[in-house]
Amino acid sequence: MDFSLTEEHEIIQAAAREFAQNEIAPVAAEFDESGEFPSDTIRAAGELGFMGVEIPEEYGGSGLDSISYVLIMAEISAADAAHGTIVSVNNSLYGVPLLEFGTEDQKQRFLTPVASGEVNGAYALTEPQSGSDARSMRSKAVLSDDGKYYTINGKKSWITSGPVARYVVVFAQTEHADGSACGISAFVVDSETDGFACGKHEPKLGIRASATCEIELTDYRCPVESRIGDEGQGFKIAMTVLDSGRIGIAAQSLGIAQAAYEAALEYSRDRKAFGSSIGSFQSIQNKLADMRTRIEASRLLVLQAAWAKQRAKKTGSKNTLNSCMAKLYASETCMWVTHQALQIHGGMGYSKELPLERYFRDAKITEIYEGTSEIQRMVIARLETGLR
Ligand code: CAA
Repeated sequence: MDFSLTEEHEIIQAAAREFAQNEIAPVAAEFDESGEFPSDTIRAAGELGFMGVEIPEEYGGSGLDSISYVLIMAEISAADAAHGTIVSVNNSLYGVPLLEFGTEDQKQRFLTPVASGEVNGAYALTEPQSGSDARSMRSKAVLSDDGKYYTINGKKSWITSGPVARYVVVFAQTEHADGSACGISAFVVDSETDGFACGKHEPKLGIRASATCEIELTDYRCPVESRIGDEGQGFKIAMTVLDSGRIGIAAQSLGIAQAAYEAALEYSRDRKAFGSSIGSFQSIQNKLADMRTRIEASRLLVLQAAWAKQRAKKTGSKNTLNSCMAKLYASETCMWVTHQALQIHGGMGYSKELPLERYFRDAKITEIYEGTSEIQRMVIARLETGLR
């Protein structure tokens, strides 16, 4: 067994680090403060192929593997988690349903412009009354008598990149004109079509530069050609997409934790108290040792989950368990590590002069979105026990 990265992966990681540290890190605090969407750096990420890492080149992507994706996500998130969120939505939540379930025409029309970074995509599963219990969504898509289009009505909430997305993958309960229900289906909707509106923008604790809003669909006419997969297949599509997406969030968590740890390590060497570097005190040493160990465990779970996804692509197997374990452990490690790193910095950690308080605020979302820690534990335990 060889735990080292290949030369190609090292090159990709170094390129992502260079871009993230030179272009994103210097503007991260400014965009966190203003809450504006960082269009220029996101466009630049698209030019480097980071908005469609695993999407084949014929559909505007980079055609790289799942390991490359987590390496890129971790580096971008170490510089700024908000950029990481935007990158992850385009790559996973928007890209995967189209790549895995879309028709050739849908890939050409809806995937290519997003994977190439020309426009942004979004994923709309959550509704005001249905977060963890995603199946209880109320948005409705009713097929017309002539079978040519669906009329979609409903409200989606917490939609990352919602305010800036050109296309959104939307999930809705589907009905035929006679009122017969056929389960949840997935659709691509165009934000430039009548019936699409952005509602309330969410003011957030962290990842403030990633734009988040409600989306309201009012008698939105969606051609049948824009339905992804079969009628009633939508929930399985949503879950398959999250099996990929959760690995990206695990990688984001790893990146934030690594950045916080490196800052704490440096500070513990430089900062003097009682005549010594604070890093020589056992209380600080214990924290640093635990931080490093937990980060390393996260890294292994993230890489293993990416490897499992790569294997799943070839064999048709599922990577749900690896994906949930990586997200659960890496996100809780991220929250814990950023807490410790802030504490090691004392008052300076609480100040906006340093990025520690931003890492701490940004970390929290990783335990919530793309399935809370409670949901990850539920899925893992169901898979392990076979019980519900
Ligand atoms: N892959 C494929 N199919 C799956 C699946 C998977 N990973 N998991 C479940 N399914 C299938 C099941 O096989 C089942 O199919 P059948 O009906 O044919 O048997 C069907 O889906 C229903 O499964 P369950 O009975 O397990 O469904 P449930 O309602 O009990 O629980 C859940 C499902 C795991 C709790 C799910 O609702 C869930 O993951 N909830 C969390 C939602 C979530 O993560 N939201 C995040 C929104 S996106 C986001 O956060 C974006 C952002 O801002 C960046």
